[in-house]
Amino acid sequence: MIGKETVDRILEASRIEEVVGDFVDLKRRGTSMIGLCPFHNEKTPSFHVSPAKGIYKCFGCGKGGDSVRFIMDHEKYSYPEALKYLANKYQIEIEEIEQSPEQREADSRRESLYVISARAARFFSETMWETDEGKTIGLSYFRERGFRDDILKKFELGYSVESWDALIQKAVSEGFKESFLEETGLAIRNDKGKLYDRFRARVMFPIHSFTGRVIGFGGRTLKTDKSVPKYVNSPESEIYHKSNVLYGLYFAKKAIREHDNCYLVEGYADVLSVHQAGIENVVASSGTSLTTEQVRLIGRFTKNVTILYDGDAAGIKASLRGLDMILEEGLNVKVVLFPDGHDPDSYVHKIGSSAFRTYIEKNQQDFILFKTTTLLKDAGNDPIRRAGVIHDVVESIAKIPDSIKASVFVRECSALMQIEERILIAELNKLRMGKGSRKEMRQDARQDVPEPLPPPDLMYPEETGAGPAAGSVVKDSDEHQEREIVRLLLNYGHELVHWDGITDTYIAPYIISNLADVTFDDPTCKLVIDEYSRRMEMGELPTAQEFIQSQDQKIAELAVSVFSSPYVLSENWFAKRKIYVRNETENMRATVLGGIFHLKKRKVERILKSIMDEIQQEKDEDNQAILMQRYLRVKEVEKGISAFLGSVIVK
Ligand code: UTP
Ligand code: MN
Repeated sequence: MIGKETVDRILEASRIEEVVGDFVDLKRRGTSMIGLCPFHNEKTPSFHVSPAKGIYKCFGCGKGGDSVRFIMDHEKYSYPEALKYLANKYQIEIEEIEQSPEQREADSRRESLYVISARAARFFSETMWETDEGKTIGLSYFRERGFRDDILKKFELGYSVESWDALIQKAVSEGFKESFLEETGLAIRNDKGKLYDRFRARVMFPIHSFTGRVIGFGGRTLKTDKSVPKYVNSPESEIYHKSNVLYGLYFAKKAIREHDNCYLVEGYADVLSVHQAGIENVVASSGTSLTTEQVRLIGRFTKNVTILYDGDAAGIKASLRGLDMILEEGLNVKVVLFPDGHDPDSYVHKIGSSAFRTYIEKNQQDFILFKTTTLLKDAGNDPIRRAGVIHDVVESIAKIPDSIKASVFVRECSALMQIEERILIAELNKLRMGKGSRKEMRQDARQDVPEPLPPPDLMYPEETGAGPAAGSVVKDSDEHQEREIVRLLLNYGHELVHWDGITDTYIAPYIISNLADVTFDDPTCKLVIDEYSRRMEMGELPTAQEFIQSQDQKIAELAVSVFSSPYVLSENWFAKRKIYVRNETENMRATVLGGIFHLKKRKVERILKSIMDEIQQEKDEDNQAILMQRYLRVKEVEKGISAFLGSVIVK
């Protein structure tokens, strides 16, 4: 864990415009800076950075936050990873606290494994570029295969010499412990206790973590002798977990995000060739069959995967089932096949980069449709085998978590198979029922998750000034008003005012004490208000920054959005009443009281509505009368609030 003081220093040092500026081209506009949003595709910039507030906010897709959130979102880092990134950028030393001596030792051992791996990569690459054996054997091999020097450098490719201990000698002479070489698998100890290099006379492919650190190697032999294994790979180690690593991801990240798509190939050579052809969003699962973790890793960057297959039909059929797992993770899957047993690497070299790009573009097919046609072709007219195809295809469709997407596939596949949709749907339901119990349990566990918000154009009918138009959805909650309170607290809570004969009060306690009788419905607003009250009881006034920096993403997002938009409610509030103020701070009292009483009014209106519902349901006349009494009393309160609002605002 990183100590609070260090976290504070990192946050203080981080300039949002610099942090974002490393990834986005920003132009100054007034007090803020704008650019093209890196989180969604856009042609006109709606991505705003406010150096003064230390936050960014995209008015197109809604993403927003502080420096840490930006790095977490953009680089898909965890919170501590993002802090470390920033610490590194601003050269702040991190001392991690609350670590047991064992933890610290484990951490420093892990760090040593990273360091030795990076050192080994440099050793292999220097050997390839600078020694005679490296140049004549390693470098010339890569060049003969058509790889450009810039690609060899970018991927840090290298060569390990024909020797039993070249790396060991080098590392030990530089003070590395032998145990680090053993733990990374760079060296192996034999039965007699002698240590020797794992990689000898091979071209070397360092494997990078998605944050760019070398964590393992693949070494390809240059011999054609079948008794020599083609590849020797690093074993699993404390820093290399094969099931959650994708070869090339570090170099593909940016392009994956830009194109919102990831190409998946089989081998190291395929990654290099496709990348060199100008398609940089490419990764490989490297020999092992694709794991769920690898799919989730891709899913952090994009929901679209295109698999570039070797053209051999048997291989394709064997892998069809494995791909259902990608669907299950909610990703969209496409496939591209290559002719005549070519793999991506051989095909690029055959037809050239630009023809290759066109080929890929033209030959993508949706995976489910591809699977359907492939299996159908195979089954011919045999009715039993065709039934089997239906089952197989529906099984894939059943894996798709998005039911709308699934229903589109049902329609398309029913056309392809010339089978009625309802038969597929019946089959689909059968499969779903089979795993029904599991699904239901999951739903239960999710009960406390709030409903997703409606799309923005349906969200705030009041704010558009248009009122609830026919067919639009009126929001049946007070979230709008509750957010206004949060906005007032975060923007103005610290301001001193003297109203109503009260001298020198801060706005925050004024708001909070006036809302003591109000329950907040929106869970995130409630969290912020509760935290705010709790801190006030301790005699502190929390700052907006503290909420913006919250590790709870919902809180941070709420804080950013209320902090970056000048008005949530008031602009419209004033406008509707035809009251013109230059800005809301000009009439702070009206703004604050407007916020408070607008929320109270909403709550009262809801009480009125629920009493009215009760009255309508009530059969007994006496009870109806009692309810009516209650209704009228509450109605008086509402009138009072309305009148008060009118008088406050007019002042
Ligand atoms: P390939 O045999 O297709 O390798 O295996 P390649 O990378 O395309 O190599 P070239 O084109 O023949 O030079 C695909 C992947 O399977 C793993 C490697 O990750 C390889 O990139 N593999 C293959 C091994 O781990 N060990 C092997 O012996 C063979
Ligand atoms: Mn190959």
